[in-house]
Amino acid sequence: MSLLRKKTIEQSIADTDEPEYQLKKRLTALDLTVFGIGVIIGAGIFTLTGRAAKSFAGPGIALSFVLAAICCGLAALCYAEFSSTVPVSGSAYTFSYFSLGEVFAWIIGWDLLLELMLGASVVAQGWSTYAALFLDQIGLGWPDSIGPDSDVNVLAMLLVVVLAILATIGIKESLRVNLVLVAVKLFVVLFVIIAGLFYIKGSNLTPFIPPSVPAESGDVTITTPLFQALFGFTPSTFGVMGLVSGASLVFFAFIGFDVVATTAEEAKNPQRDLPRGIIGSLAICTVLYVAVCIVITGMVKYTDISGEAALAEAFRSVGRPGFATLISAGAVAGLTTVVLTLMIGAARVVFAMSRDHLVPANLGKTHPKFGTPYKLTIGIGLLVAIVAGVTPIGKLEEMVNIGTLAAFTLVSIAVPLLRKRRPDVRRSFRVPGNPVVPIAAALICIYLMLNLSLETWLRFAIWMALGFVIYAIYGYRKSRVGQTERTGENAPV
Ligand code: ALA
Repeated sequence: MSLLRKKTIEQSIADTDEPEYQLKKRLTALDLTVFGIGVIIGAGIFTLTGRAAKSFAGPGIALSFVLAAICCGLAALCYAEFSSTVPVSGSAYTFSYFSLGEVFAWIIGWDLLLELMLGASVVAQGWSTYAALFLDQIGLGWPDSIGPDSDVNVLAMLLVVVLAILATIGIKESLRVNLVLVAVKLFVVLFVIIAGLFYIKGSNLTPFIPPSVPAESGDVTITTPLFQALFGFTPSTFGVMGLVSGASLVFFAFIGFDVVATTAEEAKNPQRDLPRGIIGSLAICTVLYVAVCIVITGMVKYTDISGEAALAEAFRSVGRPGFATLISAGAVAGLTTVVLTLMIGAARVVFAMSRDHLVPANLGKTHPKFGTPYKLTIGIGLLVAIVAGVTPIGKLEEMVNIGTLAAFTLVSIAVPLLRKRRPDVRRSFRVPGNPVVPIAAALICIYLMLNLSLETWLRFAIWMALGFVIYAIYGYRKSRVGQTERTGENAPV
């Protein structure tokens, strides 16, 4: 049973006062919302929209976004309840430690690392594609031999290194840079919506949900969604099943609102502002995404849409190359903040794990002057730089999604469990309709996971197996909660 040993809420909160492991409390509700938008709007809308519309959903991709948003909205309520109850760094990892138990906390932390570090690497590669395109468009260019399509993607590596340095220097400083870049990104997204309206052709939007077509070979392959393989449906794309597969893919575009919860310890008034930051940033992004989808699939027939740079290419196709350059610039600015924030989030999750000794405690020490977990930030920066620079992960968004969906599922299940176990703790935000809403959130997450491909499930299984091995060898034995359990005394950080 000690796999299910739990940390107490009181202990989690007390840990945040440890002098050597203290983060500075400087963030306001606006900072958190901007932080959220900074990480949410990124490669998902700038690149995946095209791919998902072309291969899965046609113009119905707008509905796929709505479905993914419903899933995230319900999960966001659960995140908001937890982070308003226990404003401690580490997000879902921390929440599950006191609600589900240690082994679940480890699994979620491990999933979050997949989400955040692999996410940062994937987006850094997407960034380098747009950056090289932009440099070309303004006549500067970037050598192909060290560009996005070469063996060593120096452009992506440079980005990650610069951002890791920024994240080490300070979170408030990072957010100041973030603010400017988020403003540029929002301007460009609004520009796409408003300028695009003038080029919509009704005929492109019909049929809104293209009829289902059987997959080319008709056999179950590694790319067939698990759901179709399990229940013996003939593999197909488009139609209603296509909408759901589209939602499982564009779910990527919403990833990030949960990262707001990883900065809980750095918020000035977390109980009030975290729910606002989480739900506010998600709501704003959903409205923008649906509008962008309708505009883009209205401008270009979904069969002709670009799978790489749908937004920029849509304007080029209607004879507006200048607009396309502007959009590339917006994507460069926009994806920068995503990479930055995902890396900050990853460092905060490992930080929380190190305080619990599930990874070496020494790693989590904060810098005396900057107040950030500098060793972790630099270490994670290096790892992300290597993965983004030399591995072919450009299309691994689904892998990021599955890790995130798994974490969302467990967090949602944890809400009613904790309500039962600890009805006494003050919750300044409560999920309405408990337990129906959290259970619905978990079921939708599982359904979206089932619609991911066999290939993604296989990779995920390998990742999880690796996680269990590390836990068995290290975390299980060194755990601070375990030490407290054995000695009967509170083990120090
Ligand atoms: N939601 C983020 C993006 O779309 C991860 O880039």
